[in-house]
Amino acid sequence: MSLIREKEVRSEAPVGVFDSGVGGLTVAREIMRQIPNEKIVYFGDTARVPYGSKSKETITKFSRQIVHFLQEQHVKAIVVACNTASAYALEEIEKEIDIPIIGVVKPGAKTAVEATRNGRIGVIGTEGTIGSDIYTTYIREMKPDISVQGKACPLLVPLIEEGLWKDPVTDEIATRYLSGLIDSDIDTLILGCTHYPLIRSTVGKIMGEKVTLVNPAYETARELKDLLVEEELLNGKEQELGGDRYRFYVSDMADKFQIFANSILKYGILSARKINIENF
Ligand code: DGL
Repeated sequence: MSLIREKEVRSEAPVGVFDSGVGGLTVAREIMRQIPNEKIVYFGDTARVPYGSKSKETITKFSRQIVHFLQEQHVKAIVVACNTASAYALEEIEKEIDIPIIGVVKPGAKTAVEATRNGRIGVIGTEGTIGSDIYTTYIREMKPDISVQGKACPLLVPLIEEGLWKDPVTDEIATRYLSGLIDSDIDTLILGCTHYPLIRSTVGKIMGEKVTLVNPAYETARELKDLLVEEELLNGKEQELGGDRYRFYVSDMADKFQIFANSILKYGILSARKINIENF
């Protein structure tokens, strides 16, 4: 095969995207919007969700299995579309593989540093993400004098997964979680869990107009595009809907995932296939 054809074949390979479940679909959605020529293989670990309350060791093991699965699908790059897995496993896994891999935390931290005017940033996420202090670490690397206040919001993920995006129960719980952050005078709030963009308007209403909400998914998709350009992996071929353009795999409850995915994504997903991730 000529070198040019070889490059073409590589660039036409899909991007692998994974999360503990449905949350990463908010990142996949952004990739679909910003780089529509890219094919995607998505894996949602619906059998082992939530990741937010598990240890670093467990999340690293899970992430490693998923990366092996995605590599078997011949992906050209991987996006860890989960804050918890980005916080716990990314650093270790990127040393073990020879394809580009990015997470959502660094892009989110960068956007927040650019957005803040008063140097006070808030972060909401799972217990794992907030406990790891990963956002604070990245933000301070970029700008040491910024104050960062984190708040774990463990009940928001199950509420969102139950479809209660616009329910008074979610409003009430979110208000309780966010009350400390309102008093702390932050002007920027990172939605540090891939589920949270789904309740963006609720969080926005509670925090008020003066607080800029940062959705790391947007910057992650942009960073992925830059990376693919840099590595000469950007797919120049226009894709047709259907076929193998977007493929979805889960570790359990494929039907439930499919219904959820269809409520988030613009393109109807045809099917989600269940696989045994423990085999990888
Ligand atoms: N999607 C995960 C994240 O962004 C949260 C869900 C979970 O706890 O598994 O951290």
